Amino acid sequence: MMRLDRWLVTIGIGSRTQVQKLIRQGQVTVNAVRVTDPSHACGLSEALTVSGRSVDGRLTRHLMLNKPAGLLTAARDSRQPTVMNLLPPWCQSLGCMPVGRLDKDTTGLLLLTTDGELSHRLLSPARHVDKVYLAVVEGSLTQADVAAFAAGLDLGDFIAAPALLELLAPSTAWVTVHEGKFHQVKRMFEAVGHPVTQLHRERFGPLSLEDELEEGRWRELSEEETEALYAAAGMGER
Ligand code: URA
Repeated sequence: MMRLDRWLVTIGIGSRTQVQKLIRQGQVTVNAVRVTDPSHACGLSEALTVSGRSVDGRLTRHLMLNKPAGLLTAARDSRQPTVMNLLPPWCQSLGCMPVGRLDKDTTGLLLLTTDGELSHRLLSPARHVDKVYLAVVEGSLTQADVAAFAAGLDLGDFIAAPALLELLAPSTAWVTVHEGKFHQVKRMFEAVGHPVTQLHRERFGPLSLEDELEEGRWRELSEEETEALYAAAGMGER
């Protein structure tokens, strides 16, 4: 149960003062009944309208963003723009957070969720959730590089688990990893003498970046995608 005013603040309708005013003015309905008491207890599955328009009251949300280059993957930063700048206000107020990180210059599929447990499990190396990147590198990749990725690369402070490298062109390849250490993919290519010039994530576990989702745009996950994600996290029986 949650107070109506708190629920409206949490889903991003406005500040506490603003939503209390809306409620007292009779602008809010809960299950089609006008409610004027801000402390009214709600079960969080009721249908809500505000000023005649229905609003989405769900507290659990998952979305994919096609991240452009130039933004930090962080909930906030005092100096630089973050991916949160591209997302609606409810994302901040619901605590919808990026699952892992893409570097500032990396583009592509970034998952965000309000479910901390889901996020934690998807990032756990033990779960082996594959991430697929398209990499453009300096120089020409060879079958020796494919073999080195498959064997597991020694990066000095750790040995990267075996990864699949699929060559598309001399300087372009798909790479599939299930770990997610800081700058991991860039460090792997660096270790074989081919620094990365462009990196783009195309898949995260069962999710693929939707073709029609332009850079900088986001959308909520479908029911099927959400189920596949929970299954990949070992949380299939929700
Ligand atoms: N590996 C990297 O090096 N950078 C990313 O952004 C993601 C994976």
